[in-house]
Amino acid sequence: EEFEEARTTIRVERVGRAALITLDRPRALNALNLQVMNEVVAATEALDRDPECGCVVITGSAKAFAAGADIKEMRSRDYLDMYLADWFAAWDRLGQLRTPTVAAVAGYALGGCELAMLCDVLLAADTAVFGQPEITLGVIPGIGGSQGLTRAVGKAKAMEMCLTGRTMDAAEAERAGLVSRVVPADELLGEALAVAETVAGMSLPAVMMAKEAVARAFETTLAEGVRFERRLFHAVFATADQKEGMAAFVEKRPPAFRHR
Ligand code: CAA
Repeated sequence: EEFEEARTTIRVERVGRAALITLDRPRALNALNLQVMNEVVAATEALDRDPECGCVVITGSAKAFAAGADIKEMRSRDYLDMYLADWFAAWDRLGQLRTPTVAAVAGYALGGCELAMLCDVLLAADTAVFGQPEITLGVIPGIGGSQGLTRAVGKAKAMEMCLTGRTMDAAEAERAGLVSRVVPADELLGEALAVAETVAGMSLPAVMMAKEAVARAFETTLAEGVRFERRLFHAVFATADQKEGMAAFVEKRPPAFRHR
């Protein structure tokens, strides 16, 4: 445990305008202790402030994206410990980033399912296993699983998973709409980075507005959501990249976005 505390639990790399965060706590199957939470949130917020970063990929190992919250760290806590620390609240900030995020999930995503659902695009390896096993420990999800899963896959599957702890394999997760695509495990990282580099190559303000507009669909009525989208659509005509993107189409050449 001392060894664990002395080292960082993530690796951060830049790949062009994209960034890759790899959870690196192999001895605990990337269980999400407070150190992992603080390091992931700090790293993503720093990347979010960096105009040279246009998309962030979060991945784990071949065996585990993340095996859930750290059970050993939580087992002896009481209600006041959890309440006063506002346990897990920092994870909410991951969902508040303006830069798009891609979860590249291989292996176990148990509780890690919640981390993946805080990301914008979910790609799964054919080895991925998604679940909310908290109920088997006598607790319930605490990083938004009950809300995120219900919105992503609907009530029937969310209820069954949260009440029984049943897991979903990658094929079921794709059918249910939890992930956008399943790819062979050895292609997962390459595909995720390709998606991230594609996103990062688009106009940054347009990407941010598109993300905001899609995210708004989970927060508001259809009429208000469409109004919100329309305002952002009008706003994007204030960017140089709109002029460049449309000029490039007409001139039959690739656009050179300046992210402004
Ligand atoms: N917390 C702490 N340690 C964990 C952990 C977790 N969530 N998951 C795995 N580990 C540790 C194990 O204790 C073990 O450590 P030791 O070598 O010191 O014993 C090590 O990681 C390897 O794990 P296993 O030996 O269990 O590996 P396995 O291949 O046999 O099984 C597994 C893999 C099915 C994922 C199993 O580890 C498992 O069931 N993990 C717990 C999953 C879980 O219940 N997650 C929910 C946590 S609660 C939560 O997430 C609340 C919330 O809403 C966020």
